[in-house]
Amino acid sequence: MSEGQVRIGVIGAGGIGGVHASAITESGNVVAGTCDIHRDRAEALAGTCPGAVVFDDVDALLADDSIPAVVVALPNCLHSPMAIKALEAGKDVLLEKPMATSIEECDAVLAAMENAPGLVQLGFVCRHAATTLSAMEAIESGRLGRIYRADATMYRRRGIPGLGGWFTTRSKSGGGVLIDLGPHLVDLLLHLCGRPRVISADCSVSSHFGHPPSGYRFTDMWAGPPVMDGPFDVEDGATALLRCEGDLDMTLNMCWASHLPEKVLPDGVTLFGENGAMHFDIWGDSVIVGTELDDASVDIKRPIKDGEGWNTAFRRQHETFGHNVSTRTAPTSTAIEGREVQCVLDALYRSNEARASVDVSG
Ligand SMILES: NC(=O)c1ccc[n+]([C@@H]2O[C@H](COP(=O)([O-])OP(=O)(O)OC[C@H]3O[C@@H](n4cnc5c(N)ncnc54)[C@H](O)[C@@H]3O)[C@@H](O)[C@H]2O)c1
Repeated sequence: MSEGQVRIGVIGAGGIGGVHASAITESGNVVAGTCDIHRDRAEALAGTCPGAVVFDDVDALLADDSIPAVVVALPNCLHSPMAIKALEAGKDVLLEKPMATSIEECDAVLAAMENAPGLVQLGFVCRHAATTLSAMEAIESGRLGRIYRADATMYRRRGIPGLGGWFTTRSKSGGGVLIDLGPHLVDLLLHLCGRPRVISADCSVSSHFGHPPSGYRFTDMWAGPPVMDGPFDVEDGATALLRCEGDLDMTLNMCWASHLPEKVLPDGVTLFGENGAMHFDIWGDSVIVGTELDDASVDIKRPIKDGEGWNTAFRRQHETFGHNVSTRTAPTSTAIEGREVQCVLDALYRSNEARASVDVSG
């Protein structure tokens, strides 16, 4: 072990557990242990991480004093209870998004944090994308001026994850695409816009592709294979408007599935400011800014270096987590911000139910 290296346990050895494990290693930290109710998954993951121990159950991992920190990469309904358990065991926690499936569950984590020394960092990985970092630099330099509108999209063609499993079972996931991709988009727009208070939310969700599951044609599936006779009681599309303090409007559009050809519309963020406007594909190779200079309209391209993408964002997330754990630095992706995002998601679901705009509760 080198100085500053942090030994991290990965709880949940599914799709994103694997991405975290690679990122932990690439960030210079160490995957010390893995755990999954499917032991074969924990074993397969540990096999990719030299020295990682496979734990029979979470309690055994949490009881190991040589592991100060864990990643919680479990189904959404287990985020809050597992984060609390880990905090009670004295661990620092990198908690995947969404923070929980309800505001009450977020409050339970915050209450546990009051009685535990551990840090909680939220897995808002899009903040660590090279594009976001470049965009943030331009925003902080004043290039856009006051931002009055922010739009974000994530469209998938055949992207229903784990069809018929926990992802598409509301009691386990808390919802569909809105609680799956929504946390990324809500957090990213709030982050880029200086975390304004969201006042009201208006949302409509749809479900066109998961019913019946047997009718869904796809080529590959995240968190598959599908359970064709399993539940699908969640939405696969959502469109939303958020009204924020400071005369700022945000729109969010997302779907797990559609007939839209891939990449026609990127995982895109568009910001409109009084002095400039900006667009970028979160996983793209540049950030484009339009502004005026010497009475002329000019476009500024901020290139992103080759090799940047999802994996480098996860690596950066773990560099930050490792640094926070070893130096006892409070994370910048906080549990309070996780709760803020949850409050927006809660309002979006309430708005859809009410077929009307609703207030976002604090
Ligand atoms: N940051 C991102 O971009 C991103 C991407 C994908 C998923 N996620 C999030 O990560 C979480 C996990 O998603 P996933 O795609 O890896 O799902 P997954 O189904 O592939 O993996 C979840 C794993 O947890 C295991 N598990 C379930 N209950 C358990 C328990 N009680 N103890 C130990 N292991 C248990 C399952 O066996 C499975 O292997 C979700 O909350 C999801 O929203 C985040």
